[in-house]
Amino acid sequence: MKAPVVALLAAIAVTLPTFAQRGRPSAPAPNPQPPPQQQQPLGLPLRGLSAADTDKFADGRDEFRKVETVTDGLGPVFNGRSCGECHNAGALGGGSNRLVTRFGTTTNGAFDPLTQFGGSLIQNDAIGPRDGSPHAFRPERVPQQATIVARRRSTPLFGLGLVDATPDSVFVALAARQAAAVAGKVPLVDNISAGMKTAGKFGWKGQNPTLFQFAGDAYLNELGITNPQFPNENCPSGNCAELSFNPAPGLNDTEDTEALADFMEFLAPPPRGNITNDANDGERVFERIGCDSCHVATLQSGSNPVASLNRVTYHPYSDFLLHDMGSLGDGIVQGPASGREMRTAPLWGLRAINTYLHDGRARTLDEAITAHDGQGAASRDRFRQLSGSDRTKLLAFLNSL
Ligand code: HEC
Ligand code: HEC
Repeated sequence: MKAPVVALLAAIAVTLPTFAQRGRPSAPAPNPQPPPQQQQPLGLPLRGLSAADTDKFADGRDEFRKVETVTDGLGPVFNGRSCGECHNAGALGGGSNRLVTRFGTTTNGAFDPLTQFGGSLIQNDAIGPRDGSPHAFRPERVPQQATIVARRRSTPLFGLGLVDATPDSVFVALAARQAAAVAGKVPLVDNISAGMKTAGKFGWKGQNPTLFQFAGDAYLNELGITNPQFPNENCPSGNCAELSFNPAPGLNDTEDTEALADFMEFLAPPPRGNITNDANDGERVFERIGCDSCHVATLQSGSNPVASLNRVTYHPYSDFLLHDMGSLGDGIVQGPASGREMRTAPLWGLRAINTYLHDGRARTLDEAITAHDGQGAASRDRFRQLSGSDRTKLLAFLNSL
């Protein structure tokens, strides 16, 4: 699956002339998606993008891999120096086995993110001592007050522009349609640009409503780059007084967040692998034992001025809803998501990753499935009871995604 950058650029150059269009068409045509069996590398832009949007994709991709410096605004505390540092498996924009850490405790019966110690998200690196300053910035550590510690794996970003382009009403209708025992919940979260709460679709807890907002959030909370949506620097280990030594105070970014969002919007979904007879049969098993009640095969984006995002049918194998996963939950309360609730992990592109679940604890698909609990328990039990041959087919299906 590894696509060297040179090969990737060559592939883009070959793909473009066929599909390039000038400007944004006012009445977009349906998006020509490749036939499912056609093998393609990961990390390409959506097919049919205009030349202008293809340029935005390329600019955003440069921004996504750019290594930030202290002068750019990196830190004072941070987790990574570029987005690409954690999002690179298979191609730039992929996931990785890199974990970040959240912590908290329970105070008077309620979840407490321990913000006075820098919670709930740890920034595990810092810019250290600066020339001429008496102060050294230090990485955050889990404080001894924490009773809940959760790790979260870096997720792949392929195809998420289609999810962003899918109206909230689709997810609301999906939740309403699900049987009570597995019914998901649409998390309503603050949408900074819209100035109201809208459906959270992104992150393990559905904590962000748009890719643009996630870009701003990650820019601040993973890299320490303040930006228009997230203008306030993180207080190192919760100590805001240290910010008087911040070598790059003020707004670090004014336009790059937009570029990061463009790259993610236009990043194509992971192409489907070979669909063998076993994989086909395996999908029937997947449906029969109820995996598809949460891992929904097919969604459609809404109307969109970008033809490649306009009413596109896509196959994420997720409903992007929160489910009560019982003991599999990570214990962190985030926005409307309880400690037990997690967003259904999309299964497209599964063959490009090799550790599974929010904390990467599962090394095999079998382990990932048997860890399902709560609303996933009935389906998990049916998986355990499968005959050897049905199990082989189910795994062949998952390995073709
Ligand atoms: C230190 C590693 C790290 C860095 C650096 C990083 N990310 Fe992430 N990213 C993660 C992890 C971990 C998650 C899952 C977080 C969660 O849901 O709690 C994530 C999730 C995401 C998601 C949500 C995807 C989904 O499945 O819904 C987006 C979008 C994203 N990152 C974009 C970015 C952008 C843009 C940057 C650069 C500004 C960036 N990330 C930098 C680790 C990182
Ligand atoms: C009630 C909803 C629900 C059902 C039913 C369900 N899942 Fe899941 N699945 C989830 C959620 C939520 C996650 C993410 C959990 C986490 O990591 O905390 C997940 C994660 C996964 C993962 C790991 C993906 C990754 O990127 O780490 C796999 C594989 C998976 N499910 C397969 C299945 C299969 C196969 C079935 C049927 C036996 C199934 N699931 C049934 C909700 C469900």
